[in-house]
Amino acid sequence: MKDANSPHAAHEHQRDSFGSSFGVLVALAGSAVGLGNLWRFPYLVGENGGAAFILIYLGFVLLVGVPIMMSEFIIGRRSQANARGAFKKLAPGSLWFVSGTLAVLCCLLILSFYSVVGGWGIEYLFKAFRFDFTRGGDSAGLSTLFSDFASSTWRPLVCHTVFLLLSGLIVILGVKNGIEKFSKVMMPVLFLIIIVIAIRSLTLPGAGAGIDYLFHPDWSKVTANTYLAALGQAFFSLSLGSGMVITYGSYVSKKENITAISAKTAAADTLFALIAGCAIMPAVFAFGISPGEGPGLVFITLPHIFSQLPLGGFIAILFFVALLLAALTSSISLLEVIAAFCIEEFKMKRFWAVVLTLFVLWVLGCLCSLSQGVLADWKIFGRNFFDLFDFLSANVLMLLGGLVAVVFVGWKLGRTVIHDELTNSGTLKIPVWLLDTLLFLIRFLAPAAIAVIAIFQWV
Ligand code: PHE
Repeated sequence: MKDANSPHAAHEHQRDSFGSSFGVLVALAGSAVGLGNLWRFPYLVGENGGAAFILIYLGFVLLVGVPIMMSEFIIGRRSQANARGAFKKLAPGSLWFVSGTLAVLCCLLILSFYSVVGGWGIEYLFKAFRFDFTRGGDSAGLSTLFSDFASSTWRPLVCHTVFLLLSGLIVILGVKNGIEKFSKVMMPVLFLIIIVIAIRSLTLPGAGAGIDYLFHPDWSKVTANTYLAALGQAFFSLSLGSGMVITYGSYVSKKENITAISAKTAAADTLFALIAGCAIMPAVFAFGISPGEGPGLVFITLPHIFSQLPLGGFIAILFFVALLLAALTSSISLLEVIAAFCIEEFKMKRFWAVVLTLFVLWVLGCLCSLSQGVLADWKIFGRNFFDLFDFLSANVLMLLGGLVAVVFVGWKLGRTVIHDELTNSGTLKIPVWLLDTLLFLIRFLAPAAIAVIAIFQWV
């Protein structure tokens, strides 16, 4: 049995690939839509003053995020190889491939803490099924409930393990039979759930204040930090600089339209974040809670709201199902970056590549999980494992990966290759002004924006 989906064929001539345009879109959107939208975006909006942050974020997605995504797409599709192999194929004998190796490391670090938060999602889904939140929990009680759980030793480890196993099962099935099939069913379900919750939230008495907060900018709250947070969030939410778009792009056929898919993926991700904002903020305001609660928003503030909301018990179940699905479609993409690297660079079989990766991730994830409790005092550069991995990936490696991708495509591959990839060797028409604009964004604006942010962050 040597078809393209057989694990044995993966490192031979035929590579696994996506089966349809819709499949490509839902897989990419599945990677982009994740904890970044449901957990990170709402609390960053809350901490950074609402609408003004959202507008700045939208600007970054359009002017910096989409050009980076297109550049990574070009690298992946042109090379038809994993994040490291892609650079080796397109620029043999050079050192560009180091960036691909760092991207794989970046995914390892992200997935280590991502799977811990995914595990928290599993625990909270259980609690929701037991209607724990609606049994009259007050906010102080819910806050201790969360910190007691996250800092305990065994339960979070079990949940983290289950989350990793679920992701592993999907990735072992391959790109078309695992990732694409799962995303095709789950992404529409996810959108549907979040729309239902948004409608419930928007129809609460007092929801208007939340809408106001989301859509009427207060520019006086904007500082340099707002810009930093917005660009960092654009990277994280669109899964940029992590080798994900390179890897998924390498499974995409030469007939697909890179510009259109990139724009649609960014639009789907942004739309989802905005709907999630509409699901969360009106309820936060309707119940008179402060929007700037930080990372505990999803696990403390929202359960508090569910406890008072009519039909809150059911909404809680829907919300944590959504959180888990969103986290899974992203974690499989992170896992695939590492698995593809092992399969192609070390000629491993898909099954063993995933098993090995899961094992390493499990160990790293245990460190992250325990760093919330017994290992809280183990610090490197003043940060516990969880925060260190988060910082190194989101604030260092993703920025670096994105920077290398745009510089590589803009300056090394150049205009002719970009034109060739965006028009599928002349079969698609692309207006000259659009090509020129994209070239300007890829060559100048995106690298400049990343450099400025990096300098502000690190100096
Ligand atoms: N974009 C995902 C989210 O928003 C996180 C992610 C980052 C996934 C990098 C893949 C690669 O949750």
